Amino acid sequence: CGIIGYTGKREASEIMLDALELLEYRGYDSAGIALFPENGGPVRIFKKAGRVHDLRELCAKNDVTGHCGIGHTRWATHGGVSDENAHPHHFKDVTITHNGIIENYRQLIERYELDGKLTSQTDSEVVAAVLSHFYTGDPYAAIRKTVLKLKGTFALSIMFDDIPGKIFAVRNVSPIVAANTEDGAILSSDVAAIVPFTTQYFVVPEFHVVCLSGDGIEMYDLSGDKARIDWLTVDWDISRSDKGGYPFYMEKEIMEQPRVIGETVKPRIKDGKPDFTAEGIPDEMLASCRRICVIACGTAMHAGLVGKSLIQSLIGIHVDVVMASEFMYNDPIVDKTTLVIAISQSGETIDTLEALKFARKCGSPSISIVNVKGASIARASEYVIYTNAGPEIAVASTKAYTTQLAVLYLLTARMAIARKLWSDEQMKEYMEELQRVPAVMEEVLKSKEEIHHIADTMLNARDVFMIGRGLDYSILLEGSLKLKEISYIHSEAYASGELKHGTIALITEETPVIAVVTQDKLKSKELSNIKEVQSRGARVILLIKGQEELEQEKIWSRIFRLPVMKDEFMVMPVSIVLQLIAYYVSLDKGLDVDKPRNLAKVVTVE
Ligand code: G6P
Repeated sequence: CGIIGYTGKREASEIMLDALELLEYRGYDSAGIALFPENGGPVRIFKKAGRVHDLRELCAKNDVTGHCGIGHTRWATHGGVSDENAHPHHFKDVTITHNGIIENYRQLIERYELDGKLTSQTDSEVVAAVLSHFYTGDPYAAIRKTVLKLKGTFALSIMFDDIPGKIFAVRNVSPIVAANTEDGAILSSDVAAIVPFTTQYFVVPEFHVVCLSGDGIEMYDLSGDKARIDWLTVDWDISRSDKGGYPFYMEKEIMEQPRVIGETVKPRIKDGKPDFTAEGIPDEMLASCRRICVIACGTAMHAGLVGKSLIQSLIGIHVDVVMASEFMYNDPIVDKTTLVIAISQSGETIDTLEALKFARKCGSPSISIVNVKGASIARASEYVIYTNAGPEIAVASTKAYTTQLAVLYLLTARMAIARKLWSDEQMKEYMEELQRVPAVMEEVLKSKEEIHHIADTMLNARDVFMIGRGLDYSILLEGSLKLKEISYIHSEAYASGELKHGTIALITEETPVIAVVTQDKLKSKELSNIKEVQSRGARVILLIKGQEELEQEKIWSRIFRLPVMKDEFMVMPVSIVLQLIAYYVSLDKGLDVDKPRNLAKVVTVE
């Protein structure tokens, strides 16, 4: 969910609606604003299920003038998608917006006798009620008493009816950032909403209360002592966040990949070798770890799987890739000999953040690979390598994924240096191949119409299977996720050798099967697996490296010839093809490519 709050000289509703649009990637099933009316009186709330543009229409029909307000865009957790469950929530004299999950909300309902008194099914409204219970004129005391009763994660922005012009905020785990603007003050769950106003901001520390007013920002710790604000500077350019003439951000972001891969790789090459001096990563750390544990979610986890193949085969260190959401619950074995690599586009995924913090407590050295500058995961890890993908707006990740891969290629090569593993010749070849990736990607992008035609053959499919071995399988896991999330077609990536152990029962006449064949040593086995599905009626879409004639009789119904790279780099051109397939299927089905149903770009709940 996304949070915004503004107080100052300008119209709060305008600022909030614009900011909520920017924050929609954190959730977009309902939205709302609350503000102190221009002419005094209690806080007024406008909220509804739907997108921010629906809220905009609602606001246009009402008098929303006022200079102080809080707003929210929601990704439903507790309580379905409805007008009542949209934020802000109001209870007597208190109005709040909330990100996170209050785990003990049922106990709080009982303890404060709230049964029958609440209008929504959310855990968040309970917080408003508890705040109101404790509020007797001192906002800080009420906030302190309330947060001590809460179990779970929260970022709360709060307004009290009888303190017009002021916004209070407090958090645990879920982020809040705040800043002064030219004419007031602003807070948000996310720096993106603040960047249009200023480059100076700060992250509200956990369990600290900030108060925004026309006079600026004050911050106190929970014991009531004034706390020092540590200001940070945003150092990236937001001008790249428009659609650049494409119908959807996703297409723009796919097309940007050659450039952003170059921007991620080039600054980290010195004398033809990978170089992480700017990040301060010591070779000693890369040389001494005995194991590597990658923690990540979704697409970032799929990048981790490619990293695992690279590091295990080229460096010979054991790598585990663990879903961050499962990490803590599987009695993880991590210690000071385990290098933990957390991968996250947003740097805010709570599961990844919590897993990283846990590993650090166990003494593990850590590196994070993050796209958003200054994000929580970047701050919580010992070292950070930023992917220079620029803002990624489409919910389905594309350029963030391939830049994560680019960093993993660099890191693998740096490990080889730290461990004195490769010859100069080997290093040279590898680094040259890595630098060829943007040009090879361009070549694939030039064939986008051909890929579009291939995608069209899948429009009416109910299920799509994707098969490959080794690295081909790892990239297909990501390709399959892409297709599922934006086209709503059920899809499964399967290791081709495993398919016959059950799942092949689902292959029938005309089932589309995307088969990827790019690994020389696995080619003959992969081709036999393709034969197995083809002889059961599957319609095979073959993505194969090179132009070489195949000895086998025609086993495909469609074929796409991929440009040739060394095997370990083939995931780069393949990923573009799979992204474009998913994109065109979604586009031609007339779906909202950038904002698929039920999803959020940044998941800040466990
Ligand atoms: C959400 C997004 C996915 C993303 C995952 C991890 O589920 O919809 O696209 O891969 O979170 O996000 P992160 O920001 O940690 O990479």
